[in-house]
Amino acid sequence: MGDEVYIHWEKSYEIGNPLIDVEHRLLMMLFRKLDIAIKTGESGVTVVRILNEIKKFADFHFASEENLMHEVAYPDVVHHEVLHSRLLAQLEVTIGRISKKRELPDDLLFFLNKWVLEHIAREDQKIANFVQNSPKRPVAELIYPEYLGPLVFTDSPEEADNG
Ligand SMILES: [Fe+2]
Ligand SMILES: [Fe+2]
Repeated sequence: MGDEVYIHWEKSYEIGNPLIDVEHRLLMMLFRKLDIAIKTGESGVTVVRILNEIKKFADFHFASEENLMHEVAYPDVVHHEVLHSRLLAQLEVTIGRISKKRELPDDLLFFLNKWVLEHIAREDQKIANFVQNSPKRPVAELIYPEYLGPLVFTDSPEEADNG
């Protein structure tokens, strides 16, 4: 039990761009969904369906980040896009293996957790830092508070509960 991966979203994972933070939180929610499906013994078909949901959302999320980088003329955009392509390719290989063998690798959740947390902390954080000081602003920045406000600009319910 000690080395079991506990996937959850933490405030400290936020990088400071509301759109990206909301998408990261949703990605993490899908990992939790997968975690729950596995632990409650859902069928292999259901698990693979969730993995495909994760892949599609990750693909969407990468497009959001790549657009953001282009909007603010982020200098390292090509490198970051390569990292995204690699992550997706890894995920596809993992899903393919699971679909064929119909069994889950023991380290699946560990892989996903590491996959996302390392990339967020190391690479995505650099984008947010750059955006903060960039004179070129993200296209839809002005509508962030209207659409994302309830999700990121208020305390989360769990924080309110914990006091
Ligand atoms: Fe990201
Ligand atoms: Fe990224």
